[in-house]
Amino acid sequence: MKKLLIIGNWKLNNNKKIILDFCKKLNSYLSTINYDHHLKISIAPPILHLETFNLILQQLHNNHISLTAQNIDVNILGSFTGETSISMLQEIENIKYVIVGHSERRIHHNETKELIAKKFKLVKSFKLIPILCIGETKEEKNANKAQKICKEQIDTIIQLVGYQAFDKAIIAYEPIWAIGSNQSASTNYIQYMHQFIRHYISRYDINISKKLIIQYGGSVNKKNALEILSVKDVNGVLIGNSSLDCDQFIDIIKCTK
Ligand code: G3H
Repeated sequence: MKKLLIIGNWKLNNNKKIILDFCKKLNSYLSTINYDHHLKISIAPPILHLETFNLILQQLHNNHISLTAQNIDVNILGSFTGETSISMLQEIENIKYVIVGHSERRIHHNETKELIAKKFKLVKSFKLIPILCIGETKEEKNANKAQKICKEQIDTIIQLVGYQAFDKAIIAYEPIWAIGSNQSASTNYIQYMHQFIRHYISRYDINISKKLIIQYGGSVNKKNALEILSVKDVNGVLIGNSSLDCDQFIDIIKCTK
């Protein structure tokens, strides 16, 4: 059975009030299913809400749901007004993953490949699991450059950290044109890209590539989740809009059965 990691990325959405109900409902659903180690569930709320989420999960004696940080600063401490330090995040018990290089940060916050590689290295050094988001724009896809772009995004990590970086790390393939568009990539295209990514890592280390979790992200919803999760080289999904409502999120989790 292949490993599946389902993450709800709330981005800058939802509010503190809904967290209790969301956690109760999700926790109670997960308690009813034959939950095994092949399925992992995580939520990436806005950073401000991570602590609230964590406290509620502790109160519920949760052991099904982990937390993901949407971003961290590249600095650990010092005069960096408005930033979030990984050492502070690490104090929050249920945090397991940190997203680095989401296209929205690359585009709206001018994050470069080099900065993203530094963040990736920092996450690894704090023993959390980085989720490296990669993916191409519509123009790059139309110019047949999707694989080249993804390769370059992976190469910057390998150059700074080494290929071993992908042992206990996750790649989320998110074609930028599919994000928030209501139009996911086709399953053929998803397999084409995921196979390329796994094969590229296998050129460095076959065992790391076999174990590598490669998530797909981009307009995943309850209608397309089953076929996307069935794609051979897909090991889970990174969900934006459809993770905001707990019922919809649960409907997607149901597709892992
Ligand atoms: O992090 C999540 C992805 O950007 C996908 O977002 O499901 O709203 O398209 P979406």
